[in-house]
Amino acid sequence: MARSKRSLASTLLAASIFILLVGASFAKEEGNGKGNGDGNDKGDGNDNGNDNGNGSGNDIGNGNGNGNGNGNGNGNGNRNDKGNGNGNSNGNGNGNGNGNGKGNGDNKGKGNDKDKGKHDAASTNYVILDPNPVTGSERFFCLARGSCHGKTLECPAECALRKPKRNKKNKGCFADCSSRCETTCKFRRANCNGFGSICYDPRFIGGDGTMFYFHGARGGDFALVSDDDLHINAHFIGTRPQGRTRDFTWVQALAVMFESHTLVVAAKRVAIWDDNVDALILRYDGEDLAVATDGEAEWRTETNERVVVIERTDDFNSVKVTISGLLELDVKVTPIGDKENRTHGYNLPDGDAFAHLETQFKFTKLSDEVEGVLGQTYRPGYVSPVKKGVPMPMMGGEDRYRTPAFLSASCVSCRFKGDGVRMVDEGVSLDAVQ
Ligand SMILES: *[C@@H]1O[C@H](CO)[C@@H](O)[C@H](O)[C@H]1NC(C)=O
Ligand SMILES: *[C@@H]1O[C@H](CO)[C@@H](O)[C@H](O)[C@H]1NC(C)=O
Repeated sequence: MARSKRSLASTLLAASIFILLVGASFAKEEGNGKGNGDGNDKGDGNDNGNDNGNGSGNDIGNGNGNGNGNGNGNGNGNRNDKGNGNGNSNGNGNGNGNGNGKGNGDNKGKGNDKDKGKHDAASTNYVILDPNPVTGSERFFCLARGSCHGKTLECPAECALRKPKRNKKNKGCFADCSSRCETTCKFRRANCNGFGSICYDPRFIGGDGTMFYFHGARGGDFALVSDDDLHINAHFIGTRPQGRTRDFTWVQALAVMFESHTLVVAAKRVAIWDDNVDALILRYDGEDLAVATDGEAEWRTETNERVVVIERTDDFNSVKVTISGLLELDVKVTPIGDKENRTHGYNLPDGDAFAHLETQFKFTKLSDEVEGVLGQTYRPGYVSPVKKGVPMPMMGGEDRYRTPAFLSASCVSCRFKGDGVRMVDEGVSLDAVQ
């Protein structure tokens, strides 16, 4: 998952493909004239710059396109046309998408570049159909542009449902309407050994695949991720048995900040753990959220730019959060059991189950300068400073990533600015959240 820096050459290539498509699409109308393409293709992440030029016939024109491309857009295009396009681009391009441009000539040439934005990550651009009446498998009708458009995908027998009950045993079905055009079976939960995971006392697997521990401090707040469009804080709880030189800590809560919004996902402090009681706190812009346990078992909202979805992935204490174009996050609330208490010598005081979070992040869009305890490990060319080959490689950075409060995005190395006025009071402490 380590991201690689896109080379100038491929940037120019992507930009020129875009320009060529624009150029060709204006060809018929203007004969041998000039076309001006102004590609301003802003979107979040996936599947922009999709030019579906449909046409039949006669493209014998020469198009000259001048484009200023400033955008996200990867074309994977299969084109087939007789036009010649000349493009000059000043572009910054970067993104993904699948374009099947069959420009055979007579381009009505709109370049189907509609508002993609928030709804339309290609992979999840589908509608849900009734299940197959014979097998009971759920089915999807793909709306995404590209080769999967209009296809019906059906869940395999081993995972017939998107949202199965008893997710510890049963995998859920995922449809992918991008060029993969397939359904797959996956457990709907955090994988504590996967990239971007934070579990246990907190053990991280970085975006570079390197494992490390970051202890922070009990009662402290630290920036896990701080980037242009996204900031994530963690609140640490813990204990320090007598005679120890440091705290044992766990992540109790996450504050995810984007645009002017803040989503809090937290473990409630409970004395005695019960699997059948929700110890999960969800708050959006200061309001408590109740996510249904039946039916679709989800809560959703839309911002100016994004769709935010929170869905239960088990009856209690387990959710998946999706913020389109930014982030997916699988999270589970879990206690410290007797066995862990004993084998690790935590020596936990009675009367607190130390409910905490097991989390796995998947980031859709990080900049090359992303910061934060976890975020930094996603930078291109990142070299981990932790010692290799020791049982508990330690990551420092407490001084650079500590924030003055749980809902504050300021720290020495933080980069997040957010949009306008935040909707929550940054002075609010986590105790007030509970
Ligand atoms: C291309 O053709 C298909 C099928 O004829 C149609 O649904 C689609 O809207 C067309 N796209 C454009 C950009 O004209
Ligand atoms: C944790 O273990 C210690 C001793 O090993 C024990 O005294 C304490 O009660 C245990 N705490 C919990 C919460 O089980």
